[in-house]
Amino acid sequence: MYRVGLGFDAHRFSKGRKLIIGGVEIPHEYGLLGHSDADVLLHAICDAMLGAVGERDIGFHFPDKDPKYGGISSKVLLKEVRKIVEGKGFTVENLDCTIIAQEPKISPFVDKMKETISGILEVDKSRISIKATTTEGMGFTGRKEGIAVIAVVLLKSAGVENGDGS
Ligand code: CDP
Ligand code: ZN
Repeated sequence: MYRVGLGFDAHRFSKGRKLIIGGVEIPHEYGLLGHSDADVLLHAICDAMLGAVGERDIGFHFPDKDPKYGGISSKVLLKEVRKIVEGKGFTVENLDCTIIAQEPKISPFVDKMKETISGILEVDKSRISIKATTTEGMGFTGRKEGIAVIAVVLLKSAGVENGDGS
């Protein structure tokens, strides 16, 4: 049985914060603002995985009102999400993400991001895709106000809910 999930997230640039995307620190003049480490990629992945199993969203499971999650590494959140998904009998088949950012240049860090996510999800790197695009100066990402990410995940379970064992 397969389940697909979609995640979207966006965070605003802020001076004096570290820029962490996909668990990787990227040297940049600005970081992203958020209650946790504001890892916009990992948040979108969490939401895609939660969505695939009908489990609300990251804000529901890890409320930003809860001081427990203040400044927390989103790697910890992704690991928790993996446990939720696995608890329902699902594993990640593949993951495809697009980072929407006018700057900084993301491509030099993609391999390290894949490695990091592969380690957390215990999924082979070949099943993880991370891409980046600018919006050619248009919109909030184009004005360099922040970064957005769209993620799609396919989960697989050993269940036979759809009757054909797939
Ligand atoms: O229209 P297209 O997405 O091909 O062009 P673009 O947005 O100008 O991106 C050109 C290339 O730069 C893409 O291959 C992206 O992988 C890369 N890129 C990046 O590394 N970091 C970004 N923040 C935006 C794009
Ligand atoms: Zn977020």
